Amino acid sequence: MKSLANSIYSCFKKKGEFSLKEAYSKNSDKPKETVRARIYDNLGIKFERVAKGLYKTIDGDESCVLIEGDGRNLSMLDDASIDCILTDHPWLDKKSNKGGDRNFATYDCFKYNLDDFKEKARVLKDGCFLVEILPAENENNYDYLYQIKKYAEQCGLLYYSKVTWKKGNFVSNTGRKSKNTQDVMIFSKGKARNLRIDVKKTKETGEIHHMSGTTQMLPTMFDIPPVGKGDKIHQSELPLTLCEKILQFVTKQGEIVLDSFAGSGVVGGCRIKFETKLHPDRTCASEYC
Ligand SMILES: C[S@@+](CC[C@H](N)C(=O)[O-])C[C@H]1O[C@@H](n2cnc3c(N)ncnc32)[C@H](O)[C@@H]1O
Repeated sequence: MKSLANSIYSCFKKKGEFSLKEAYSKNSDKPKETVRARIYDNLGIKFERVAKGLYKTIDGDESCVLIEGDGRNLSMLDDASIDCILTDHPWLDKKSNKGGDRNFATYDCFKYNLDDFKEKARVLKDGCFLVEILPAENENNYDYLYQIKKYAEQCGLLYYSKVTWKKGNFVSNTGRKSKNTQDVMIFSKGKARNLRIDVKKTKETGEIHHMSGTTQMLPTMFDIPPVGKGDKIHQSELPLTLCEKILQFVTKQGEIVLDSFAGSGVVGGCRIKFETKLHPDRTCASEYC
């Protein structure tokens, strides 16, 4: 006979995620405490806790859990439970976007406040990275872009680096100056964790050593075209390759990435090839030197 844990696992394996409520209702012949206990016994084995009352089945592959709700309310997430936040918030910038036929942001928009960054800092693990996709600076938004960095700093999210996202040959007309970039703003919660291979020490000892920073030296820019109009399922959809490239720099295999303003859900679709070895010919851990 199948154990209760196995039957909960098989029941939700295809869907990938389940709430406690769903687990109770699928096993209504068993006491709730028993169902809960079998899930708890198998945390890290069959199940992983994603948020309060929300679990996912572990199957060794990447998985994506969609939580519907207000992305500014992270209260269902535990302190220091997230390895990376990569998000593109719906920034409010009426001045830059009024007029023309830009039809920009038909969804709800807002400006971040200090509490948003307090919450980001709370759920992130120490040393881990927060990546905010931000608009290119202009005459209307420079104050806000500065404010974002100050909010982050006040919450212990340190300015790590900013990399331009150049959108290939795409150029948009803003009325004053043509535009084809956005910024990938990277913060670390306190000192950046050790993701970068320490080439010297690794060569000396023959064992992989890491030092503080992203997995490799960041490039001067990500040169990646935007998603074509005909291919988009969301107005502000980021290219999958951009998200994958970013995550390659700021995460390790098996980690949890949060995108609080998921839009098309592109971050959930990322599949990343992680390099864990140092190529013998390399004199530097960056693919750019
Ligand atoms: C800039 S878009 C993100 C696009 C996304 N990165 C992509 O590649 O598809 C911001 C998204 O946040 C959503 N949004 C706005 N307010 C939100 C909120 N309070 N909680 C969660 N999502 C919100 C918008 O509807 C929009 O889909």
